[in-house]
Amino acid sequence: MSGTIESTMHEMRVFPPPQDKAARLSSMQQYQALQQRFVDDFSGTWGELATQHISWRKPFSTVLDESDAPFYKWFADGQLNVSENCLDRHVAAGLGERTAIIWEGEPGEVRHISYAELLGQVCRAANAMRALGIGKGDRVVIYMPMIPEAAMAMLACTRIGATHSVVFGAFSSKALHERIEDAGAKMVITADGAWRRGAVSTLKPGVDAALASGCATIEHVMVVRRGGNAVDWVDGRDVDWQQALAAQPDVCEPLAVEAEHPLFILYTSGSTGTAKGIVHATGGYLLWARLTMQWVFDFRPQSDVFWCTADIGWITGHTYSVYGPLACGGTTLMYEGVPTFPDPGRIWKICRDHGVTVFYTAPTAIRALIKAGDAWPAKYDLSKFRILGTVGEPINPQAWMWYHDVIGGGRCPVVDTWWQTETGGHMIAPLPFATATKPGSATFPLPGVFAEVVDMEGVPVEHGQGGLLVVTRPWPSMLRGIWGDEARYRRTYWQKFEGRYYFAGDGAHKDDDGYYWIMGRVDDVLNVSGHRLGTMEIESALASHPAVAEAAVVGRPDEIKGEAICVFVVLKQDETEGLRTALRNHVAAEIGPIAKPDDIRFADKLPKTRSGKIMRRLLRDIAAGREITQDMTTLEDLKVIEQLQGKG
Ligand code: WTA
Repeated sequence: MSGTIESTMHEMRVFPPPQDKAARLSSMQQYQALQQRFVDDFSGTWGELATQHISWRKPFSTVLDESDAPFYKWFADGQLNVSENCLDRHVAAGLGERTAIIWEGEPGEVRHISYAELLGQVCRAANAMRALGIGKGDRVVIYMPMIPEAAMAMLACTRIGATHSVVFGAFSSKALHERIEDAGAKMVITADGAWRRGAVSTLKPGVDAALASGCATIEHVMVVRRGGNAVDWVDGRDVDWQQALAAQPDVCEPLAVEAEHPLFILYTSGSTGTAKGIVHATGGYLLWARLTMQWVFDFRPQSDVFWCTADIGWITGHTYSVYGPLACGGTTLMYEGVPTFPDPGRIWKICRDHGVTVFYTAPTAIRALIKAGDAWPAKYDLSKFRILGTVGEPINPQAWMWYHDVIGGGRCPVVDTWWQTETGGHMIAPLPFATATKPGSATFPLPGVFAEVVDMEGVPVEHGQGGLLVVTRPWPSMLRGIWGDEARYRRTYWQKFEGRYYFAGDGAHKDDDGYYWIMGRVDDVLNVSGHRLGTMEIESALASHPAVAEAAVVGRPDEIKGEAICVFVVLKQDETEGLRTALRNHVAAEIGPIAKPDDIRFADKLPKTRSGKIMRRLLRDIAAGREITQDMTTLEDLKVIEQLQGKG
């Protein structure tokens, strides 16, 4: 299959799980028995797991408080500290010398950071932040490359009860500005620059631009030296991270916070308006990060080397590069640069060099690696792999099969994990040594998770029928709200089924064996290379360009990216040379390069219904080059369609 991707493939085989008695959950009977415990005693079972897996400073007496639903509270009167759970606990258990983080820079340098060293650095950072006036409840924005200091900054926030909000380093300064303002952040932690594709790409100038107007709440910017590039310096505001840490002691008493204390805010795209700040709470999130690490990745901290390729700017990086592996006391790998630099074998070279045993990436990356050819992975010994995971978008069966056969040598279970920024951790996923897998299916809800596929009225649909994916009972790592917008939280997730179910925004069906198949978003959220983008955000970015009168954005299927961004634009003026490039760059400047349109089409008008609504389904069909099946009598102008199809 090397070098090509077949566009259709029906894989009907079922892959039985490898036998491994040492696995935490090693049979379907064990899974069912555990799920039955939740059915019989929901809060008792959660309470037991929370007591067992988390070090509490103050034990909780109630597990779940539903009195203010949909604002659910978990372990509310308990107190804990996340950095203590992720660091001190392991050092106290004699694991101080174990490697917590293996880091590889793009130019090739390697750092092994032990638990003891990480604890010391996190304490210094926490002390430095405190000295700069950061305390419990303050928001700290982290705008960083993939360097260990990013994880240190996150953990340092948790040590003193500050709430972090990581902003993906490739987001524009405008996007950064909006997030700082929305969160009311007091500090930004960034780096001068970092290595990408063989050169230093800068970050600090983006922060300076973001802070050039507004952002009045920001008092300090801490700057990690990584790129070695010269940066502008605002005296009194900007603080050198390395110098500040060196001046602090490596001990800092962890602050116990309430289980419901906001651990972090992470901005993600919705179907309407600007990005929303998803709020996660301390106790429930940490519990689920640890449990899913153990269940879905069967993580063995004494021997595994775990690599999740996601950037810490996304939820996957939060839960599975940082909190999950560290809460378990295991080794996590971080890589700074572009996975295909200097060649498409880089990923496999890193896996071989560091003995990665559990590998977790997105289907988009897999498809790109398939295209690069089988010769690249063939160059490296990948026999240490035990488990392979995917996340972020539906995986097509041919990519699944390649991952399983070529990368996993047919030995390693593939875990296709369905979840969201909002869910904090995995929700529907196989247990590698218990669940028989079917390529393209995320299989079953995890123990403790209750999901369903329902129709518009909330009635479960028959097996084989498409419907909406819902979660029918609360779970500990569920989002606690949208930062500063209670109404939007209720409206987005709970209104559709009147508070009974959490509405995920995905379509799905179950097959005759009860396996879940996720079909993709049912709202105006795009999934481009596994990155979530709102059509509205891109539309408003385009509308802010002087040449644009109106714009509509839809997704179209793409072989590599899953979905590509297709834009229909009505201009205020005639089309000029270079306008397409200018518009693409404008969107990159407004949001970030990941939001650059793939396809821009100009027309005199956009197709609208008589009531003036843009006909998005029609645009999606046009973008995909599908036959138009809609009734077009309601259209103002049939010629518009031809223009948009490129025939006009
Ligand atoms: C999609 C990423 C199919 C889905 C963790 C969801 C998936 C959105 C899968 C959340 C999967 C994630 N199969 N679709 N295994 N995993 N998705 O918030 O549409 O960046 O709603 O979280 O990604 O994206 P988010």
